[in-house]
Amino acid sequence: MTNDMTGDAVDNEADSRADIAVGDGFGMPAYDADRVARRDDAVRAAVEQGLLGPGSPIVGLLDVTGIRESAAALRAAFDAVVAPGTPVLHAFAVKATPLVPVLRLLREEGIGAEVASPGELALARAAGLHPEMTVLDSPAKTPAELREALALDIAVNADNPQELDRIDGLMKSAASRSPLGIRVNPQVGGGSIEATSTATATSKFGVALRDEGAREWVVRAYQDRPWLTRLHAHTGSQGIPLSLMAQGVAEAYALAEEINRRIGRRQITTLDIGGGLPVNFASDATTPTYAQYARLLSEAVPGLFDGRYGLVTEFGRSLLAKHGTVVARVEYAKSAGGRPVAVTHAGVQVATRTVYAPGSWPLRIAAYDGKARPKEGPAVVQDVAGPACFSGDLLAEGAALPLLEQGDYAAALDTGAYYFAHHYAYNSLARPGIHGFAPDGAGGIAFATVREAQSLDEIVAESGGAHTASLTTLSAPKRR
Ligand SMILES: Cc1ncc(COP(=O)(O)O)c(C=O)c1O
Repeated sequence: MTNDMTGDAVDNEADSRADIAVGDGFGMPAYDADRVARRDDAVRAAVEQGLLGPGSPIVGLLDVTGIRESAAALRAAFDAVVAPGTPVLHAFAVKATPLVPVLRLLREEGIGAEVASPGELALARAAGLHPEMTVLDSPAKTPAELREALALDIAVNADNPQELDRIDGLMKSAASRSPLGIRVNPQVGGGSIEATSTATATSKFGVALRDEGAREWVVRAYQDRPWLTRLHAHTGSQGIPLSLMAQGVAEAYALAEEINRRIGRRQITTLDIGGGLPVNFASDATTPTYAQYARLLSEAVPGLFDGRYGLVTEFGRSLLAKHGTVVARVEYAKSAGGRPVAVTHAGVQVATRTVYAPGSWPLRIAAYDGKARPKEGPAVVQDVAGPACFSGDLLAEGAALPLLEQGDYAAALDTGAYYFAHHYAYNSLARPGIHGFAPDGAGGIAFATVREAQSLDEIVAESGGAHTASLTTLSAPKRR
């Protein structure tokens, strides 16, 4: 046993993937070592094939092989612990990587979509996700959004009593086959990152289960509505210890058991246990694994997997993070106050959380030379800066890596979730292009466009370019 990134003790025994024993000779499982090799190949190929260079100094790369492997690992992990025949829907949290081709790739891997806004629902539909593979959560659904979801027969988790009132009205006015549930906040506590802790006492999400009268209200809500057949809890994301996640799931399970007992039949048929598996940003090791989490759940909440409940999961970060890399050219290499500073094209626009909250969201940087080969040399403490016009725009501060020089490339690792797909338009910096990659079968790398880089015309159009004179046409105040 060792401690993982979350501070939890984790069992390091090999998970269900057969190739885990091979690795890089230093204890890294084969799938992690292979992913690192694919990443290096892709960075080099991106430069060789002109996706990255002086004229296009930033790009996002997505490892298609790795995404498929993670999807398979997720399915295998739960298949290994659930009773045969248990319906399981793994719904990818679209917020983690809201890109249509990614959702389509995951669909091909049997993974659905958890959406939390009209935009995310539109992306899921554009990717061809069927209603039965889609779940709508969000704390602020409008009547129109609810009406649309119910008309499409998409599963909905009601966040609060007022939302349930709205659903009541809609259920009276039109038939829907949407599986419906209530989101509860088990209030088991937060993790090391406040902003991603959803089960604190005062979290904005769900029905706060330990508040006075709340549990009784939930039980009555189910008693009064035979069509409420699901129960949902998402205990938090990055920074939440696995033990706390399991505790949240255990609380939801105990509540479902109580509701079904008090109603006298198995009205709740499906538990939605949310996502939240943390990602190790400190090294290339995939830890914790889905297999470890599924095993932990099967020990902590054995009844959950005995076949009486269908399951929905909503993993986001853990499916995509390790398969994305932002690579940016070093435009200038300088020194200030004795500190080398590499000024690159990746900063706050692609790594917003890291730049504004570096303590919670540190990123590893890999150095590549001008030909995009992994850079050798002694580790030098340096800053890796972004292009935005404020001094805090740093991808990494005081990082120890081979000295980055003008024309080199800096890669921000593990950025496939909540990074380059979440553009922040500071300084009107363009959204970078994103390309998926995979071995081409002939020893090279093939790329496919996921998203084009944003053009200057698009930036102007999205910044009110069609309304240039609109403000000047409003009547001016009369001068006295
Ligand atoms: C309801 C819900 N489900 C799933 C997720 C995905 O969490 P993660 O990306 O940590 O797996 C989130 C994240 O905010 C969420 O709010």
